[in-house]
Amino acid sequence: MIIGKREIASMQLYSRFAVASLAASLPLTSGYAIGAPSSTPVVATAASSRCAAPLAIADMIKPTLSMLGAKGPAGDNLGDSLPNCPTTIWQAEDIDVDEWQAKYNAEDMPACPYEIMATPADNAKGADYFIEKRDEIKALLLKHGTIWLRGFDMTKDPDGFRTFWESLQLDPCLDPIHSSGLRKFLSKRDALYEEVNKQSLSRHYIGLHQEMTEKRTAKFGAFVCFQPATVSGGEFFIADGERIFRDIPSDVLKKLIDRQIRISVSNLDLELIEALPEFIATKPEAMEKVAGLVGEKVAPKFDMDLDMIWGTDGREMRLQAIEHAQSPINRHPDTGRPVWFCNMHNHARFLRERRPCSVPEVGMTDVYYGDLKVIEGDLLTKVNEACEKNIVKVPMQPGDILLCDNYRVLHGRDVFEGDRLHAVSWFGDGEGEPMAGKTAATGDTMAGFINKFVVGE
Ligand SMILES: [Fe+2]
Repeated sequence: MIIGKREIASMQLYSRFAVASLAASLPLTSGYAIGAPSSTPVVATAASSRCAAPLAIADMIKPTLSMLGAKGPAGDNLGDSLPNCPTTIWQAEDIDVDEWQAKYNAEDMPACPYEIMATPADNAKGADYFIEKRDEIKALLLKHGTIWLRGFDMTKDPDGFRTFWESLQLDPCLDPIHSSGLRKFLSKRDALYEEVNKQSLSRHYIGLHQEMTEKRTAKFGAFVCFQPATVSGGEFFIADGERIFRDIPSDVLKKLIDRQIRISVSNLDLELIEALPEFIATKPEAMEKVAGLVGEKVAPKFDMDLDMIWGTDGREMRLQAIEHAQSPINRHPDTGRPVWFCNMHNHARFLRERRPCSVPEVGMTDVYYGDLKVIEGDLLTKVNEACEKNIVKVPMQPGDILLCDNYRVLHGRDVFEGDRLHAVSWFGDGEGEPMAGKTAATGDTMAGFINKFVVGE
């Protein structure tokens, strides 16, 4: 059948619907620029000539600042030069579940989180405390997976929080789905994202997850509390991926490893297509066209490898965007120890429907086996039990920071009432390339648009 202008206009209408719906539905929940030489060209004007000598001196001083622990002049705008979130390091093959579970059961696992309470003397040192303790804090992070920094005065605002992580010489990066535009910066110039504080999602429980996709994973996250929920709830929580690995029944874990998992990130119910008159397009033609348009126009924004699949959940006209198959476990890139590395607790529909969930159907995620078969409820329940057994709620107060090893530790947050302001910065390995100008600009434009009109500011 030949499709004419009128038909194309009609198809475009459906395409816009599909694109907007997918953008609205994709998941809400989840480098190096400090000290980089300025790229501002020196223009040979009288004014700039007068500044040349001081600028040259400033450049000479930079290495000294770096040696002192600060990576550059405080307040540099990092927003346009942040590198992408690093590529996920997968080392999931040949992990002997029985051997590692026995080993973990025999171990006296270190506390997670490890708490550091500031003393008046620590606070008097300001940034120097973190510069002096940098190596010690990094060693504790590797051992314990998470450090809860409590009672520090400096970290109660974005400037001080940035000084904190600069003092530790962490390398900020974009979050794994930054290009989708669904993640909103609290302070872009400080590489600081807002957590899910918005009222429309306050009654939505965010389950355990690492900040990762099959494709990209942040190495570390620093979560900061500027204001706990003013009425109740909203506690941040974490769970150690080594402990979850230890506690999932071995037969369940082996089955999931063997069959792999796939995560669906959106539902589009497109029964409208069935109502299209035959002279516009046949149903198969329309389905193919819409799937192609969504895959071509929207999926790339998410920097994920997504397949567009019709007919899931027993609904012929449901189109889902589904990540490629992945292992539910991984080896930690530094320790080589296996961890539960899977966002099933957050994304499985079976679990979401059994706890507070205010995400509309279009945004309901789900988790399948690698062959897209449904994962049995009793199996999900066993995974859920192992996850919840290891959840540690952290009642963060203003200025408190949870510094997390994102390969090792999963995070989530409880429902809340009132106003809440928590934020997070992500860190990579310092080796990422800044996003190319066009890509970065596109992502940012999408971010502003979607946050304003779809997600709601
Ligand atoms: Fe998250």
